[in-house]
Amino acid sequence: MGEHRTELEDNAQAIMADGKGILAADESNSTMGKRLDGIGVENAEENRRSFRELLFKTEGAEQFISGVILYDETIRQSAADGTPFPKLMQELGIIPGIKVDTGAKPLAGSPEETVTEGLDGLRERLEEYYELGARFAKWRGVIKIADGIPTPYCRHVNAHALARYAALCQEQSIVPIVEPEVLMDGEHSIDRAFEITRDTLHHVFGELIKQDVVFDEMLLKPNMVMPGYDSGQEASVDEVAERTLECMYDVVPAAVAGLVFLSGGQSDELATEHLQAMNARGPHPWKLSFSYGRALQAPPLDAWRGEEGNVAAAQAAYLHRAKCNGAAARSEYSAELEQEFTAAA
Ligand code: 13P
Repeated sequence: MGEHRTELEDNAQAIMADGKGILAADESNSTMGKRLDGIGVENAEENRRSFRELLFKTEGAEQFISGVILYDETIRQSAADGTPFPKLMQELGIIPGIKVDTGAKPLAGSPEETVTEGLDGLRERLEEYYELGARFAKWRGVIKIADGIPTPYCRHVNAHALARYAALCQEQSIVPIVEPEVLMDGEHSIDRAFEITRDTLHHVFGELIKQDVVFDEMLLKPNMVMPGYDSGQEASVDEVAERTLECMYDVVPAAVAGLVFLSGGQSDELATEHLQAMNARGPHPWKLSFSYGRALQAPPLDAWRGEEGNVAAAQAAYLHRAKCNGAAARSEYSAELEQEFTAAA
């Protein structure tokens, strides 16, 4: 809050620029393999690279996308013309980011749960990623809801690791995105999603305080509060917006530089509608924007199908989703805007 903003605050604010959000393109090679499999494309490095190039070179996307989260393989790759991906982004005014966790692994003594790994050697890896152009990072802790879980043990180890990661990032002048994802898969009610999300965030912020993480220099990537996909229950857009906001107001400090929601397997239009409904209830203590993976990439993936001839259509589909989400970040999304694309197609 002082007069002199740090490099970390500047970068956090730049990511949260009005009407902009994050493209999460940091799928591990195995997760990307599942996405490519879904469109009948082989999980080869060149196919992963081509799809990412298509996204990163979409003209105009920089009006709505302030940052892109990359994977270790991707941050070292280049466009077909030889331009390294991080440089390509910087030239467009987009900030490169990097996923630095090494995945959610079975938790000893509680095999239904996971703990996210990647702390060993993290300081040195962050130094290298900074050299490669990364100015923000992501670490995703995973909390699953089912009978008897999450346990306090799982909640604790994931919160502790998230805070250790965030402190190391700030030390290396990289803005940490702290992502404690309470999964939307499961049979739970919206009330239970609320209770577990609130409790998880409460513990994450407790650890962040204990480990001296600076809130103005970090972003939070939360899940929205929704009934589990297998609950047989549906919540309205208004209910999801209200319960999610209630949860954030309860436990997220106002100093946090911004909230960038994950989509978590919601349909792309619903993810946009939920963000719009939350912003329509503003102003809030924080800017609310998006850090969507599937909800930004599903339409271009589907349009592309690995064919060079489909690149323009895939880019148009991605640009449209980026534009709609950018609008929702400003509370300006509407059914008319959504239909512009369908009408043009
Ligand atoms: P989804 O939006 O597909 O949930 O992905 C965002 C992300 O980065 C999860 O870690």
